[in-house]
Amino acid sequence: MHVFPCEGYERLSAQAAARVTAEVERKRDLLLCPATGSSPTGLYRELAKRAESNADLFRSLRIIALDEWGGLKATDHGSTTGYLKERLLGPLGISADRFTAWNTDVEASTACGRMQDQLARLGPIDVCILGLGINGHIGFNEPRPAMMPHCHIAYLSEETLRHAMAREMKQPPDFGLTLGISEILAARYILLLVTGEGKEQVAARLLGGEVTTALPASFLWLHANVDCLVDRAVL
Ligand code: GLP
Repeated sequence: MHVFPCEGYERLSAQAAARVTAEVERKRDLLLCPATGSSPTGLYRELAKRAESNADLFRSLRIIALDEWGGLKATDHGSTTGYLKERLLGPLGISADRFTAWNTDVEASTACGRMQDQLARLGPIDVCILGLGINGHIGFNEPRPAMMPHCHIAYLSEETLRHAMAREMKQPPDFGLTLGISEILAARYILLLVTGEGKEQVAARLLGGEVTTALPASFLWLHANVDCLVDRAVL
């Protein structure tokens, strides 16, 4: 993992956007797997600006969702699908046939199986954008005694249920749906964004370099092509 300290959120977002754009320019139909949350919203804003000035850039881009809150409908504003529609699919002009969402209309285990099949058909992921959860999670791969390699139903920790997206929901979700650690690590290139209030401790643990299931993001140290952009505010 290559660590790049950035001077504030705007710089971090601009540097992330430059990297993603370079990847898209190299491979127009790349498969992008984007996280939700506040860490990447600046990056998505930057990408939206690029789409405004270059309508062709994202014409073939494909997107597959990293995770989803259990029990939410795709039409719910607080869902991953709702978030991605507003910030990426709409602004970048991603047509429905180029977007793969978690299906929350079926049983959770069926949704995981379907996502697994779709990933096998469409993947591997070319670019995976991750945020660092306050407890060290990536996607909904939560700190546990063991990691799940594939798409799974995730138990959500108390910290995760305090996330702004969950707090806005009428009813807190009982579980999460997420790609597993092995599917994330199979991505060709991973961009990890470390920014946000209260992330000092988890950032320090991650940068310590020890790989442990108590800090799922630490598995990214095992991948040969990860850029970790860290906001200096959390260092
Ligand atoms: C959420 C999402 C993740 C996200 C993470 C960090 O629970 N499931 O995909 O990356 O937490 O969120 P934030 O960037 O808002 O700190």
